[in-house]
Amino acid sequence: MSVKYSKETLNDRFTLFTVENGGSKNTFAEDVIAGLTSDPKTLPPKYFYDNAGSELFEKICSTPEYYVTRTEASILKDKSENIADANKGKDLIVELGSGSSIKTRYILNAFIKQNSSVNYVPIDVSEILIQSGNSLLSDFEGLYVTGIIGEYEESIEAATKIFPQPKLILFLGSSIGNFDLPHAEEFLGKLSASMRKGDSLLIGFDLVKNENVLNAAYNDSEGVTAEFNLNLLRRIKREFNSELNEDNFEHKAHFNSNESRIEMHLISKCDHSFSLNGSGEIKFRKGDSIHTENSYKFTDEMIRGLASSAGLTISESWKDENNYFELCLMNKDK
Ligand code: TRP
Repeated sequence: MSVKYSKETLNDRFTLFTVENGGSKNTFAEDVIAGLTSDPKTLPPKYFYDNAGSELFEKICSTPEYYVTRTEASILKDKSENIADANKGKDLIVELGSGSSIKTRYILNAFIKQNSSVNYVPIDVSEILIQSGNSLLSDFEGLYVTGIIGEYEESIEAATKIFPQPKLILFLGSSIGNFDLPHAEEFLGKLSASMRKGDSLLIGFDLVKNENVLNAAYNDSEGVTAEFNLNLLRRIKREFNSELNEDNFEHKAHFNSNESRIEMHLISKCDHSFSLNGSGEIKFRKGDSIHTENSYKFTDEMIRGLASSAGLTISESWKDENNYFELCLMNKDK
């Protein structure tokens, strides 16, 4: 694979790369039609994140029930100096799915104390990183930002081409849990293949815990997560100019303990159908589901399995006092 990207200089400390998306990928319309005509029906979760979806996601992170972001942030806050110590000599931090970069501030702070200057490379599909990059630059002296807008795999390849020095990669928020387990393994394997000896990965895992806590986190009482899920239908309706009525669906999320994952679904409240350009009629019976996302919850054994299949060594890990969440530092030793 050889990535193509364009480069823009935003200011003397901020460079932006935009990665071309290989052209071989399906479009939104193709993915949606394929998902809704398959059995069981699914939709690809990457389409959650239009502007409205990204804003709703930020709101989820501050609901009282959604402990994930808050817990991970508290570990980062307490342990950022240990994390910087374990990465002595590195001045390059690459973050996958950087979003608002709020949690990253703890790490940047600790690295800048040690190195005086740090290169931060946020990678995201959304232009949100321009705004968050500018805000980081005004708060941190000694910081240089190289944003990469693109999908994970191509963008990591671009980052490795642009910067030869040893790096710490961040993959926070238990985003690894939004891949199916075989894909998580494959993804981590590819990530590991793109790392050089001496590089490290700091990765967040949400842990298996009391089911009531898990279920509440994905069914917040204000209904923000429900809105986030239903927003996917609004996006489809808009982009296809379809008669789809999102009020015919309701949000449902529950912990599936056999699979060790929260499943998010959109359940049809009645018999109904709608059409999407050229797809024919898409039919729903009352109770039919569209499976929109999984969020795996990990045990230590699952984490060790993932690391070893990717050829990475867990050198240190940190948990919060409730054992809700774990941050692991995985190294590429050869
Ligand atoms: N990775 C996080 C999680 O699984 C964030 C997330 C992704 C999320 N998609 C979501 C949170 C949908 C709530 C709903 O928790």
